[in-house]
Amino acid sequence: MKNKLDNYIIKGGKKLFGEVYVQTSKNASLPIISASLLTTDKVRIKDCPDILDVKNMILMLQKLGVKINNDDKDIIIDSSNLNNVNLDCKLTKTMRSSIFLLGSLLHRFGTIMINTPGGCKIGARPIDIHVDAFKKLGVKVVCMGDCLFFDASKARAGKIHLKLPSVGATENIVQFACLLKGETQIFNAAKEPEVVDLCNFLSLMGAKIFGAGTNKITIYGVDRLHGVEYSPIGDRIVAGTLMVAVALTGGKLALKNVNAHQNEKLIDILRRMGCQINIKHGIIKISNSNRLSSIDVSTGYYPDFPTDLQSMLLVMMCLADGESRLRENVFENRFLIKDELIKMGAKIQQIDNRNVLVEGQPELTGCTVRAKDLRGGASLVLAGLVAQGETRVADIHYIDRGYDHLENVLSSLGADIKRK
Ligand code: UD1
Repeated sequence: MKNKLDNYIIKGGKKLFGEVYVQTSKNASLPIISASLLTTDKVRIKDCPDILDVKNMILMLQKLGVKINNDDKDIIIDSSNLNNVNLDCKLTKTMRSSIFLLGSLLHRFGTIMINTPGGCKIGARPIDIHVDAFKKLGVKVVCMGDCLFFDASKARAGKIHLKLPSVGATENIVQFACLLKGETQIFNAAKEPEVVDLCNFLSLMGAKIFGAGTNKITIYGVDRLHGVEYSPIGDRIVAGTLMVAVALTGGKLALKNVNAHQNEKLIDILRRMGCQINIKHGIIKISNSNRLSSIDVSTGYYPDFPTDLQSMLLVMMCLADGESRLRENVFENRFLIKDELIKMGAKIQQIDNRNVLVEGQPELTGCTVRAKDLRGGASLVLAGLVAQGETRVADIHYIDRGYDHLENVLSSLGADIKRK
């Protein structure tokens, strides 16, 4: 049973061997669940990941009157009784993905009020790209204290140029535009595989979407969408996390339910750092028996190296032979695990909020560290797998947001990791 106060206790030094069927993607599942509300028919989402973010979204939708049933790992969504537009403030505050519900809920109700994370500080925790894009489609947006009020009564199709290729904003507008009469064009759209997966899902429901996966997406509004069964793509970030685990500990791993093409940049980096990787019949095989080589990497929008794998790469750099540089181009201040890794013996120098310099060490030493975010938390687990002695990772509820029982997956490969 998972508890908010659970820790991971890891005894480092075990090599990992085996095969993993990678869970379905968190970042694909969440917008797909949201888009299920665009029809009153039933939608079955197959093999949905058992993670906290999905559970929280389900909880939020149930409070809005949506019926959601589990059938093994599938979830069946029936939003025919959707009856309440008061999104739960506590949940919308803890989960940024609730912003993705805007596109679908606005269609069902015409108006909606949402709590903005930390009030209307659009600059500090920005949702300005979402808001500007909705405004371009004729939606009226009014800031009321800690809330934003959206009125779509005069909404119409249109042309949108995104200031940055925001994944969430692209997904929101694609959902909204599917049922808007006329042609909507999104320029500088996000190209991430999860955006493509959402578009594939919507197309199966009857939407007319062109250009998904490129920087220009065109949507022709249709009158209605219908129910479907759909299995979201495998999670490229979870797959990447496991590949890095083997790169660090040594051993051999085969990954199924993952598209190597979507992890091209990571695979290239792992090879350059000394790992052996083979891709055949849709299975990625990785092995490593050497000390990793140092490397310089910058994160970026897809197809560049993903920001969500940046902290895993940082752990590899901490143990690589020589000096590495890491630049974070997508988010500011995404080096939250730096101080925790330093406690374990890493030598990391932060140049500014986008750049770090890492002097690789021969080993890290286990101690108590604290997860402060989802991907950073998973990276501390990876550091624990390779560290000397015992590592306790606290606040693992962050990790549960996106990893489906990470301890079971790692234990099945031979790691010594327990939830306590
Ligand atoms: C999604 C992913 C997240 C990933 C991120 C970037 C989900 C649920 N989450 O988050 O895991 O790390 O893409 O690949 O899919 N920005 C603004 N204004 C906005 C929106 C974004 O300035 O209105 C900025 C952000 O601060 C950030 C950049 O744009 O610097 C990219 O953010 P975005 O692509 O929107 O990330 P999310 O969709 O929130």
